[in-house]
Amino acid sequence: MSASADKPAVLGGSPVIERAEWPTWPPRLPEINAALNNVITNDQWGVGSQAVEDFEQAFCGYQEAQYGIAMTNCTVALYAALAAFDIGPGDEVIIPAYTFMATAAAIIQVGATPVFADIDPLTYNLDPDATEAAVNSHTRAIIPVHIGGNPADMEAFKDLAAKYNLALIEDAAQAPGAMYGDRKVGAIGDLGCFSFQSSKNLTAGEGGILLTNDEHLYDKIFQVYNCGRTLTGPWYEHVYPGLNFRISAFQAAVLNAQMPHLEGWVSKREENGLYLEGLLNEIEGWRCLGRYAKTGRNAYHLQISAYNPGSFSGLPKKKFLAALLAEGVVATDGYRPVYSMPFIEDSEPLPHTEAACRDQVWIRQFELLADRHLMDKTAEAIRKIQDHSRLLCAQDI
Ligand SMILES: Cc1ncc(COP(=O)(O)O)c(C=O)c1O
Repeated sequence: MSASADKPAVLGGSPVIERAEWPTWPPRLPEINAALNNVITNDQWGVGSQAVEDFEQAFCGYQEAQYGIAMTNCTVALYAALAAFDIGPGDEVIIPAYTFMATAAAIIQVGATPVFADIDPLTYNLDPDATEAAVNSHTRAIIPVHIGGNPADMEAFKDLAAKYNLALIEDAAQAPGAMYGDRKVGAIGDLGCFSFQSSKNLTAGEGGILLTNDEHLYDKIFQVYNCGRTLTGPWYEHVYPGLNFRISAFQAAVLNAQMPHLEGWVSKREENGLYLEGLLNEIEGWRCLGRYAKTGRNAYHLQISAYNPGSFSGLPKKKFLAALLAEGVVATDGYRPVYSMPFIEDSEPLPHTEAACRDQVWIRQFELLADRHLMDKTAEAIRKIQDHSRLLCAQDI
């Protein structure tokens, strides 16, 4: 190895990986252009679109749910899910604080109160015991988030929902293709919400879908998302003050073109994710998050690790990430606890959530679509930083 290759790239050495080697996202498939052209020329662009109907059917089929309503995004899908249960003022909904703010914002927008329960340090998913401790007579629903695409402990949450008669809504924004046992997530609880925003594992830039196996809920969700219309009623009959959350045919076309690739992407992320984690867990002091015994498959929207500066001569995470970036690996910090946002009042810090927000290191889903050798090189880059961590600590990087 040359002296330059051995020296940390952030200090002028050669990087382990050339950034151009990584895949990029969104997937620029020629099929997407064709699907969009087909909508422009042949389809309705909104209401009545064949592309929207096709996508709802394809995604429901893939995700093993009976009913699906595609929407403009996942935030409104969460809102529609809560509204479908008539959850509103005076009601409480238990959620993790290690999530995107939308999980809480949807609850606030229906007039209810988000109640934060702590997460399980193994997976950073909502902890069922902490959830049970937060249940009271105002509790109406639980929203476990399959964080990073790693399924929450759905069996425990189904038991809790049954025991306390609560709605169980899956925030599956990050989890297309994830499996708990032999079932895909999304319709294991009463209903589930997915996101197709630009960072997501399947994307139309923006977009979402709500899935359920419950016909009655499907009917209610239709009213909430489609201006209060019923599934079978006349166009100008509005039985509920619903809003318009309808997806456009263009978003649906972009998603349809990706559907034949989805299972291949999901498998590749899982294979590369597991392979990378095998390598990373061999690095002294490195900890990748785990999964539940019943987890069938992690969708790996994020590969999440808990960084321990103690194993890197005390190198602060910010400097570690800067040094890793210079080596050609984009890994990032992530969430702040949702309860720390200015729009939340009176919420106590939760110890495991605080620790997760301190330690988290995220690797994004599309990097797990890279060739296998880049997983080896990612681990090599981290080892290189560890080897030079004492030197890096002393540098202003
Ligand atoms: C866990 C989680 N929930 C909800 C959302 C909201 O999704 P959207 O951006 O499609 O509204 C996101 C998106 O980042 C998310 O990650």
